[in-house]
Amino acid sequence: MTQDEQKKLVAREAIKYIVEDSYLGVGTGSTTNFFIDELARANKRLRGAVASSIQTAERLRSCGIPVVELTAVDELPVYIDGADETTAHGAMIKGGGGALTREKIVAAVARKFVCIVDQSKLVGVLGKYPLPVEVIPMARGHVAHELVKLGGQPMLREHFLTDNGNIVLDVEELRILNPADLEAKINNIAGTVTNGLFARRGADVILVGTDNGVQTLDAHKF
Ligand code: 5RP
Repeated sequence: MTQDEQKKLVAREAIKYIVEDSYLGVGTGSTTNFFIDELARANKRLRGAVASSIQTAERLRSCGIPVVELTAVDELPVYIDGADETTAHGAMIKGGGGALTREKIVAAVARKFVCIVDQSKLVGVLGKYPLPVEVIPMARGHVAHELVKLGGQPMLREHFLTDNGNIVLDVEELRILNPADLEAKINNIAGTVTNGLFARRGADVILVGTDNGVQTLDAHKF
């Protein structure tokens, strides 16, 4: 099965986690795009969707799904999003698409985070995928310097600004043995908006697309 076929499998499976007559949080990326396609076909009763990026908001609207601002939402039972890497415990690296800050905000509000990934994203230790860090432009040098002190090799993401108008540093060479600790340390560097470690608020359920179908991991069981 190709990677895209595995992504489609989990996108379809995620439909089961939608709570009808409520709002739904929707992430960003190619796996989430497959989910939006499924959502458009699924005929679910939704009050509206909260998008984690401008790109997702546009795609939702083009599928006829109403988009609402997070500020207008009283509660968000479920958030569905992909990841660049995830452990079976639900700690993730996200932000390959640069939407990490809005993703982290929507995830913080949601009661349940359903992570949808193809098999290649499931890892034992995070850090092979470069860790994205969203940074206020004037702090670029300072944040890069501090990231080197933490053992990383930051690279500026070229020709890219986030939806919030900030730059992204992609940090290589990190072997992340304590993701919650590193998440807090990086967020404490002045000028950092947020980093792509989602460990303090990780996924609750991970749907992994495999050649044998969807593997469902309950992150709280590990
Ligand atoms: C975007 C993200 C995505 O969820 C992550 O990059 C995975 O993307 P894809 O589904 O295209 O592999 O965090 O900021």
